[in-house]
Amino acid sequence: NPTNPQMEESAILERVNCRAKGGAPGFKVAILGAAGGIGQPLAMLMKMNPLVSVLHLYDVVNSPGVTADISHMDTGAVVRGFLGQQQLEAALTGMDVVVIPAGVPRKPGMTRDDLFNINAGIVKTLCEGISKCCPNAIVNLISNPVNSTVPIAAEVFKKAGIYDPKRLLGVTMLDVVRANTFVAEVLGLDPREVDVPVVGGHAGVTILPLLSQVKPPCSFTPEETEYLTKRIQDGGTEVVQAKAGAGSATLSMAYAAVKFADACLRGLRGDAGVVECAFVASQVTELPFFATKVRLGRTGAEEVYQLGPLNEYERAGLENAKRELAISIQKGVSFMKK
Ligand code: NAD
Ligand code: LMR
Repeated sequence: NPTNPQMEESAILERVNCRAKGGAPGFKVAILGAAGGIGQPLAMLMKMNPLVSVLHLYDVVNSPGVTADISHMDTGAVVRGFLGQQQLEAALTGMDVVVIPAGVPRKPGMTRDDLFNINAGIVKTLCEGISKCCPNAIVNLISNPVNSTVPIAAEVFKKAGIYDPKRLLGVTMLDVVRANTFVAEVLGLDPREVDVPVVGGHAGVTILPLLSQVKPPCSFTPEETEYLTKRIQDGGTEVVQAKAGAGSATLSMAYAAVKFADACLRGLRGDAGVVECAFVASQVTELPFFATKVRLGRTGAEEVYQLGPLNEYERAGLENAKRELAISIQKGVSFMKK
């Protein structure tokens, strides 16, 4: 369903192929939950990404309006909209990357885990579609609670016999984006010059910034360490409270999601040295999933990096993070085993 009814499918393909022949690599990207608070700005930013040749926008409501709107942007990607479960397969067929921000967000007083009951089922259905229609796609999973939805997705893919741990990535990029911003504020630097590894998971104490490994090298007082760690861990709650019932982070998340998806696309293109943090299948700890830096390549997360040296504060934080993560991971796995 091209957004421009005058534009035949063959004409769209010609346009995409023509650009590919010109040497510009074009990837096909689907956003599931594209009409939501994250989905809309994410769709806009993806339409601006020169590595995207085809952009599929899927939601259970309002995707035709968002698609019509985005499709008027004079950037290269061809945009198509898909509405409702009966169009899920068409939305997914042939995709290289699938980004999933579908699901309900938090309200003040809720934890991310309170979203489990609704979002677990949504993620399961969408991942079943991926198993069937684009089993080789790289999946960027944003829907909360990420610490449980990633294990759910893995179980769906295992059940379908298509699981490749390298291609399933829980998006923790917003924690890194926040960490870079808050650390830069304390150091008086431009956040673009700062690199803070954030490991563990994506909820409360499972979010573990490694302030001892900040680049450029620097040191913090115990008070600064405490302030920064808490602010990074509570960044999501800070936004939920400020929005006072109108949802959680959407704009900074769309920014972070595009930053991460762009890294995945550059990896797919074959760029060297593309490294970002993500929540992936991992042997770095005794847990089956853990967020650390990973190297993104043609087949997804091709290398999962070790934690590196931790100070005492971080070692204690790691133990707390692992305790909570183990429970959240098990909850996701059990949901699928039921
Ligand atoms: P939102 O309610 O504004 O949008 C969610 C969208 O998902 C809606 O358009 C809704 O129609 C759609 N949707 C619901 N069920 C669907 C289904 N079965 N298939 C396809 N689409 C479906 O919420 P939001 O603010 O965009 O947040 C979405 C999710 O992202 C939430 O779970 C939130 O907690 C999470 N989130 C994660 C991070 C992160 O860092 N990983 C950051 C922010 C938000
Ligand atoms: C965030 O970190 O902003 C998201 O996980 C949304 C939330 O519920 O906090």
